Amino acid sequence: MNWVLLGSLLSCLFLDASSALIAPKVMILSMFTSEANVWYGIPEFNLMEQNITVLGLSPRFPQVHCTGDGVVCQLTLGEGEINAASSIAALVFSPLTDLTSTYILIAGIAGVNPKVATIGSVTFARYAVQVALQMEIDAREIPENFSTGYFPQDSSGPGQFPGTFYGTEVFEVNDALRQLAFNAAQTAQLNDTEAAIQLRAQYAESPIFAPANNVSGPSVTLCDTATSDNFWDGTLLGETFENTTKVFTNQTGVYCTTQQEDNATLGALLRGAMSGLVDFSRIIVMRTTSDFDRPGPGETVLQQVLGPSPGHIPAEVNLHLAGVEVVDMIVKGWSATFENGVPPTNYIGDVFGSLGGNPDFGPGSIFGGKPAGDEGTVSPPNILASSYFTV
Ligand SMILES: *[C@@H]1O[C@H](CO)[C@@H](O)[C@H](O)[C@H]1NC(C)=O
Ligand SMILES: *[C@@H]1O[C@H](CO)[C@@H](O)[C@H](O)[C@H]1NC(C)=O
Ligand SMILES: *[C@@H]1O[C@H](CO)[C@@H](O)[C@H](O)[C@H]1NC(C)=O
Ligand SMILES: *[C@@H]1O[C@H](CO)[C@@H](O)[C@H](O)[C@H]1NC(C)=O
Ligand SMILES: *[C@@H]1O[C@H](CO)[C@@H](O)[C@H](O)[C@H]1NC(C)=O
Ligand SMILES: *[C@@H]1O[C@H](CO)[C@@H](O)[C@H](O)[C@H]1NC(C)=O
Ligand SMILES: *[C@@H]1O[C@H](CO)[C@@H](O)[C@H](O)[C@H]1NC(C)=O
Repeated sequence: MNWVLLGSLLSCLFLDASSALIAPKVMILSMFTSEANVWYGIPEFNLMEQNITVLGLSPRFPQVHCTGDGVVCQLTLGEGEINAASSIAALVFSPLTDLTSTYILIAGIAGVNPKVATIGSVTFARYAVQVALQMEIDAREIPENFSTGYFPQDSSGPGQFPGTFYGTEVFEVNDALRQLAFNAAQTAQLNDTEAAIQLRAQYAESPIFAPANNVSGPSVTLCDTATSDNFWDGTLLGETFENTTKVFTNQTGVYCTTQQEDNATLGALLRGAMSGLVDFSRIIVMRTTSDFDRPGPGETVLQQVLGPSPGHIPAEVNLHLAGVEVVDMIVKGWSATFENGVPPTNYIGDVFGSLGGNPDFGPGSIFGGKPAGDEGTVSPPNILASSYFTV
């Protein structure tokens, strides 16, 4: 029995777009107030035409905001992994939502690796890596032969392949959709500021930081994202998590942006996909870059962390400028392309292979390449007993 398909079928029967209150073509996800504000009071659409309270959302952001026709919605998750996962779980499993055809646009600001891109840029990730899901020893107590205090679970030192996975270490999203989003975002004229230009110039001395010091300013970039509840900063942690990204993705991931939510958001979306309530091939991870993850030459890590963050303004402005092109692409291209979906050509899902297929990273599917429900390892959703059919 294919429980995912059965779930999708039943949710179509019982929860089609006409019966659910919230069934948008695009759901924009913000993490905090100023990220959300870039979507309000804009010329393209008005998200304040419908405010819908959904049980289980963040106490600070209890409502989903939608256009009057319900085509575009936006939700603020709250910051950090626990807020992100809890808010998404509440959204996905609410009787008020049908996200089976919805494109999910994660749209947040992030730190950036100066070896890969500069501040103010717009990035689209294929991999999201939960880099701090490891053992940790305080740097002052690390063994002499350790290059960092972080080392994978069930391993004996940094750089080794983990012996144990929790399953959320890496998520991979639809690369074909990512390329379309990248193309759409490139049509935006990105914002930049004088202060951001001055900060970039500080990275000029060091050739490895050439992307940080890009004189042509911010750009749209394909590179991956790293999640941790810790807001980390500094050269050594940056290098530690560059290495972790490589190990967790079997050398294919590019450690680029740093944030506190995406693997949690993806983890909860994956649970929704396993229940037939979310299409995991319709997720876009867009992060714009507000600050470097490590100091430039001549600056200490504390000066960097406590100092001004001039990339913040262009990063937030560019969330809207680039994001609106992606929203527009999906809405205008709905019947031609997006309604039926963009078939992924790469593996999509988690470390365990929960949605079926064989991950191109990690130790391999624990379900023999089949979706989790097929194996009997994960209980199928208790569909008929669920309260979401009482709407
Ligand atoms: C939705 O909430 C915003 C404030 O958060 C308010 O300005 C707007 O009028 C509300 N819309 C409706 C339809 O009540
Ligand atoms: C987090 O999600 C990203 C993006 O999908 C994925 O590349 C990464 O491997 C994930 N990391 C963890 C630790 O789950
Ligand atoms: C560090 O040294 C210890 C003791 O000599 C050894 O057991 C361990 O394997 C070494 N670890 C690494 C990561 O080199
Ligand atoms: C970038 O956005 C800021 C804040 O809205 C604005 O002050 C500035 O003029 C913009 N810069 C450009 C080049 O558009
Ligand atoms: C600078 O940005 C441009 C795009 O705006 C890009 O083509 C180029 O590769 C970047 N240079 C570096 C060193 O990253
Ligand atoms: C990252 O990995 C490289 C290559 O294995 C190693 O030389 C370096 O010390 C590592 N960096 C950290 C901070 O662990
Ligand atoms: C990833 O690397 C690990 C450790 O080298 C290996 O056991 C695993 O098979 C690799 N996974 C893939 C999909 O190549």
